[in-house]
Amino acid sequence: MEQLIKKLTEAYGPSGREEQIREVIREEISDLADEIRVDYLGNLIALKKGTASGKKKPIMLAAHMDEIGLMITHIEEKGFLRFTGVGGIAPSRLTGARMILPSGRKGLIYHEPLKDSSKLTLEKMYLDIGVETEEEAREFVTIGDIAVADEPFIVLGNRFLAKALDDRIGCAILILVLQQMEKTSRDLYFVFTSQEEVGLRGARTSAFGIDPGLGLAVDVTMAGDTPEVKKMDVKLGAGAAIKVKDSSLITSPLIRDKMIEIAENEKIPYQLEVLPRGGTDAGGISLTREGVLAGCVSIPCRYVHSPGEMVDRRDVEGAVKLLEKMLQQDLEFPG
Ligand code: CO
Ligand code: ZN
Repeated sequence: MEQLIKKLTEAYGPSGREEQIREVIREEISDLADEIRVDYLGNLIALKKGTASGKKKPIMLAAHMDEIGLMITHIEEKGFLRFTGVGGIAPSRLTGARMILPSGRKGLIYHEPLKDSSKLTLEKMYLDIGVETEEEAREFVTIGDIAVADEPFIVLGNRFLAKALDDRIGCAILILVLQQMEKTSRDLYFVFTSQEEVGLRGARTSAFGIDPGLGLAVDVTMAGDTPEVKKMDVKLGAGAAIKVKDSSLITSPLIRDKMIEIAENEKIPYQLEVLPRGGTDAGGISLTREGVLAGCVSIPCRYVHSPGEMVDRRDVEGAVKLLEKMLQQDLEFPG
């Protein structure tokens, strides 16, 4: 499991530029699926055929491949790079971060001197790639290139620390489920979605194409277990979280209660998640066509959308088990 998560988190793949991470995932799943295709938005769609293929609507599982990044907007005379966010990025989490450009050139983020550090904005920040002139910078970067965090994956006891655990940990979980999945009656689509961080885009188009009876997303959620952080009843190590609500979805009680029932019957530790702000692919899926039944299994994560995100191995294992048990049950639902 560690090797897989290392490979996935260390791959380059900001929103709209998922080519590299997509190839990493394709390699992992090429022997496991009956069909694999890529659609125009860049979603990687793998089908595991069911015994009743075509007779019942399929189930779609979704985890997004894309990570947040910084798109270069301007190169200064002295070679400093200015940027805009791709996905939701808090400036306070960026100072001192090491980044990598598509060319492989690395650099460090810093900001102009500030009297009041609470006034820090992305406009006041720059990426220093160690050059002295604009001309020199242009050897390594073009306007529109996206830099992402350059951090290695490490294991700290039960915890994993890495960049892009949002949502490569979800991708890892989908791969682990696919590896162990026996035939179900319904077709299962494992979708590694694109452009989630800029508005759940890949999930919408892939769900429209697949037309599932049920959509299940796997993504990270915030944790309320660090000093003085906002109160939230989700913590690392207490089990995968079953989403009740976020800004993109109010989970149908049908799905929420089914997940709870399975977790309790199988003695899989779980938590209930109410996320005040933020959404996932489950929200995108639920709003396609005439509406799709959708749910989400969340992995509690500290420091979401920073260069170092942290999750707990036990929650990851729990999520894999919960999804496996759910899929094996031959779920019945309208449609
Ligand atoms: Co995110
Ligand atoms: Zn995410």
